[in-house]
Formats: sequence, structure tokens, C-alpha cells
Amino acid sequence: MTHNIAIIGFGNIANAIVTPLLDKKIIQPENVFCVVNTEKSLENIKKNYKYDINVYKSDAKESKIIWDCQYKLLSIKPQQLNDINEDHYLKNKDNLLVSILAGVSINRLTQKFPNHKCVRVVTNIPITIGKGLTGISWGEGITQDQKQFTKKLFENTSKIYEFTEDYLDIFLALTSSGPAIIALIIEALSDGGLSGGLPKILSEELVMEMIIGTTNLIKESKLTTSDLKNLVTSPGGTTISALRVLEKKSVRSALIESIVSASNRSKEFR
Ligand SMILES: NC(=O)c1ccc[n+]([C@@H]2O[C@H](COP(=O)([O-])OP(=O)(O)OC[C@H]3O[C@@H](n4cnc5c(N)ncnc54)[C@H](OP(=O)(O)O)[C@@H]3O)[C@@H](O)[C@H]2O)c1
Repeated sequence: MTHNIAIIGFGNIANAIVTPLLDKKIIQPENVFCVVNTEKSLENIKKNYKYDINVYKSDAKESKIIWDCQYKLLSIKPQQLNDINEDHYLKNKDNLLVSILAGVSINRLTQKFPNHKCVRVVTNIPITIGKGLTGISWGEGITQDQKQFTKKLFENTSKIYEFTEDYLDIFLALTSSGPAIIALIIEALSDGGLSGGLPKILSEELVMEMIIGTTNLIKESKLTTSDLKNLVTSPGGTTISALRVLEKKSVRSALIESIVSASNRSKEFR
């Protein structure tokens, strides 16, 4: 791609999206124009980032150059959105803004950036190792070229799903909050192993391998999750004893409600 790309906020997720594109030479460092908020981040990128991209501090006059880029990735935190204002003197028509902000609707983006076509994207933290999940919702009037550009940003590092916007909050709850829920489960199960006398590191390794093995088994076999549960649950055995505790503590319900709650929270950002 030879377009100039503006990156508004170059934190963890922007880094995870942009660096593989630079690694694979899909974009060139001289075409990347990014803006950050603090001197510390500016210096850090200038000194330590492995590519010589253009980087500016948000209050520097030169940072206005980002508004001359037709393509923009908005990757600040949702609560920082009020600090960003579209420049009134845009050089180009057909400007595209791709937002990865949790919960911020296309409608709000379009009001905030009236001279841009807006795309709302939800991605998740495994994108940092190229195993992300990305949901995309297109705003009004996005061209095929703009769709292609947006997909190019994410297809290297994640599986892409296209949705209408009403599905994005629940997609976010499952895929973006999900890693924290799974981390909590891994931690808790490992503590169970620890309580039974296993060293912490071994216990955590066993839990993670067990989860990977179980997930792969479900994916590769024709077993449903219920089939699998029944397969390993014998009458009066250890597994039914464990499951009984989980049912008594309403763990199933707590997990369902955790996803509903994350989705509702995402809706509040609109
Ligand atoms: N973390 C996740 O799991 C995850 C997953 C998917 C999507 N997201 C979404 O990704 C977005 C970014 O998350 P993150 O974890 O990458 O955040 P982050 O690491 O805190 O990065 C935010 C970036 O925005 C910059 N910034 C703040 N105010 C700015 C301003 N006024 N002008 C220009 N730049 C500004 C910050 O600069 P300074 O460093 O100088 O302050 C920083 O570079 C969020 O909206 C989040 O909802 C996050």
C-alpha cells in the first residue's frame, strides 16, 4: 500500500496492528504519520521503535499533517475522544477513519468526524501474537477500496468477521473482554492445582495445555460441548463431583452474566 496512514494514538493495540504491516512491507515507514499525547511516548517511539516512522506530539503544530492523510486509524482510549478534533481544512475528499475504540458508535464517530467515512472495528489482545479476532462494521458510503484497505490492516494478524453494528457490543464482550475472563479461569484452576500440592508454574502449564487440548478436541471432533462433558463424567465419579460444586456456586450463570454485563458496559460508551 502506498497511501499515507495517520495513526491517532500509538499505544499497545496500534503497535500490534501496524508493526506486522511494516514487518511484511505492506506499508512503508515513511507513509506512517502518528500522533501521541506525551513527550515520554514521543521520545520512546523515536528512540526505541524499530521503524523510522513520522511521529508527533498532539499539541505540536506539525501534528496537523495527520489530517492530510486520507486513511486514519483512531486508536486512543474512548475517554480521550473529546481531545481529538477534526481539522477544518482537509486536503482530501474520501477520507476514511477506522476506529478501534471500545463501544464508540459509528453515529458518534460520524458526528465527531463529519468529513470522514467511518468504520468501527473491535479487535482483541491476541492480535499482538497474530491470533486476534476482529469484527468490522461499515459506516455509510464506504467504497470497495476503503473496505479493502481496512481489511488489509487486520487480516495479517486476525480472523475477520463483518457484522452490522448491533452485534459489535456482544462481539466485544466475548472476544475483547473474554481474554481477561479466560486468564482469571486459568489463574483460579492453577490455584486449585497449587492447593493440591503442585508447584505454581507446573499447575499453570497443565491448565493451559488442558484448555488447548480440550478446545482442539472440540474443534477437530464432531463432539458437542455437552457430548464431551458427558464423555468424561462417569456416575459417582470425580468430574460430576467437580461440576456439582460449580453448579452450586452458579458459575455457569456468573459467566453468562459477565458477558451480558461487558456488552451493556460497551453500549454505555455510545
Ligand atoms: N487493550 C485491549 O485489550 C484492547 C483490545 C481491543 C481494542 N482496544 C481499544 O484500543 C484502543 C487503544 O487501546 P490501547 O490499549 O492501545 O491504549 P494505550 O496503550 O493507552 O494507547 C493510547 C494511545 O493514545 C495516545 N493518546 C492519548 N490521548 C491522545 C491525544 N489527545 N492525541 C493523540 N494521541 C493520544 C496515547 O499517547 P500517550 O502514550 O502519549 O499518552 C497512546 O499512544 C482503546 O480505545 C481500546 O478500547 C483495546
